[in-house]
Amino acid sequence: MKLPESQVAVLDAASATEERTIADLAGKTGLKPETATGAVFELEDAGLLSVDERTEESVSLTEEGEEYAEDGLPEVALYEAAIEAGAVDDPVQMGQAIGASGLGGPKVNIALSNYARKGYGTIDSGEITANQDADPDEDAESNALSALTAGEPVDDPDVLDQLESRGLVARAESTVRSVTLTDDGVTAMMEGIEAAETVGQLTPEMLTTGEWRDVEFAEYNVDADAERIDGGKVHILRQTANRVKDVLVGMGFEEMDGPHADADFWINDCLFMPQDHPARTHWDRFALSNPTEIGDLPEDLVERVHSAHRDGVGEHGEGYHSPWDEDFARAIALRGHTTSLSMRYLSGYAQGELEPPQRFFSVEKVYRNDTLDPTHLLEFFQIEGWVMAEDLSVRDLMGTFEEFYAQFGITDIQFKPHYNPYTEPSFELFGNHPETGELIEIGNSGMFRPEVLEPLGVECDVMAWGLALERLLMLMYGFEDIRDVHGTLCDLELLRDVEVIH
Ligand code: PHE
Repeated sequence: MKLPESQVAVLDAASATEERTIADLAGKTGLKPETATGAVFELEDAGLLSVDERTEESVSLTEEGEEYAEDGLPEVALYEAAIEAGAVDDPVQMGQAIGASGLGGPKVNIALSNYARKGYGTIDSGEITANQDADPDEDAESNALSALTAGEPVDDPDVLDQLESRGLVARAESTVRSVTLTDDGVTAMMEGIEAAETVGQLTPEMLTTGEWRDVEFAEYNVDADAERIDGGKVHILRQTANRVKDVLVGMGFEEMDGPHADADFWINDCLFMPQDHPARTHWDRFALSNPTEIGDLPEDLVERVHSAHRDGVGEHGEGYHSPWDEDFARAIALRGHTTSLSMRYLSGYAQGELEPPQRFFSVEKVYRNDTLDPTHLLEFFQIEGWVMAEDLSVRDLMGTFEEFYAQFGITDIQFKPHYNPYTEPSFELFGNHPETGELIEIGNSGMFRPEVLEPLGVECDVMAWGLALERLLMLMYGFEDIRDVHGTLCDLELLRDVEVIH
């Protein structure tokens, strides 16, 4: 049998009776690990080797861990200083013990926070005691650091957990492949295997000398496992935002754009939200302190909005008849919804008067002073949209959502009647969570009231909505906690492994 040189070397180095790791084989043969791996897979395919995979945990010291392995743990230094200062008999002033320990900077806090936990003594009202029976030589964490430095294993998972939570060790998992010769492998070896001259790379010399005509080229094994490389990629939230934009553009919508920090006028007043509405208090709102108010508002619109709030709208002047203050409307806050953009566009302020029919959308961030929990963050992306046309009905609104969500494979949305100060009728949208089966709220919508449209100067119907991009993502990918995709607690595996969809 003729085989490429690297495979012959691997076969020679492998044993029928003893498992050898690929790293061992690479060491024995002098092959590069990736060449040895490639050869092993080829030989496995040919039935000459069998490969056994297991996952192995490796533990390594962090820089801080290495420092303590060398100089000792801060709490041990503190204990020794406390003993020295006589804290076994009587409590000693903490400052004195810390001074004598030579600890400084963050190490003082590190020593204090581990001292009592590990039974070195007590710390109370600025005084420290030392426990005579404690023995730094028996300190499991310190011994584990020494063992790791010496390349010895540490078996106690609790100690490892503790060291990991202190940031002194890092744990990683890797796949270790062990190889043994199969019966066929042994037979082939006994019958004799010759190394075929194979060439892994074509060189300019081979081309000029014509040598390439005579050599045998190594084959690529496209099935072989390759080293995993986590390259950068677009975050799934961005990916989905881009998809949402494509879908809406495909449905004939144009994109709106506008300020994240905006006047309450656009965020609330245009929406016929009374100025004493509970949602307008500071609990929900992130106010801006610099600048505090907007300079430029369209005067005639301000007057019409003012009149809607104070005198009502329509023949009978129905409405809240609530007091209205222009300064209050000028105050700037981070927008709690992107309906502020809809107001800027519908009023003609953003890009001039619009003639029906019109369709607009945005996929932008909004900010709310919520309590963080699995479904709420202080900011999220809202998919805002509206359609302006003659004679729109609730069926148009529902049909639009059905068409939109179907493009993401979601075909079971449900509607629930709802209340918004600015739409009538209003509907909340719900979808089924693919993992928990629970109904989750995915958006809010409705037909703008005359009290909103009349001051804006819009004379036909407008249906509108705000959908949460993160909730759409939950339905698409099945994660249960919004913090899995955002922020410091995010699930990196999920973000890395999720399929890239365009
Ligand atoms: N602004 C609403 C929200 O944030 C969504 C909405 C927009 C509802 C337009 C109706 C009309 O929940």
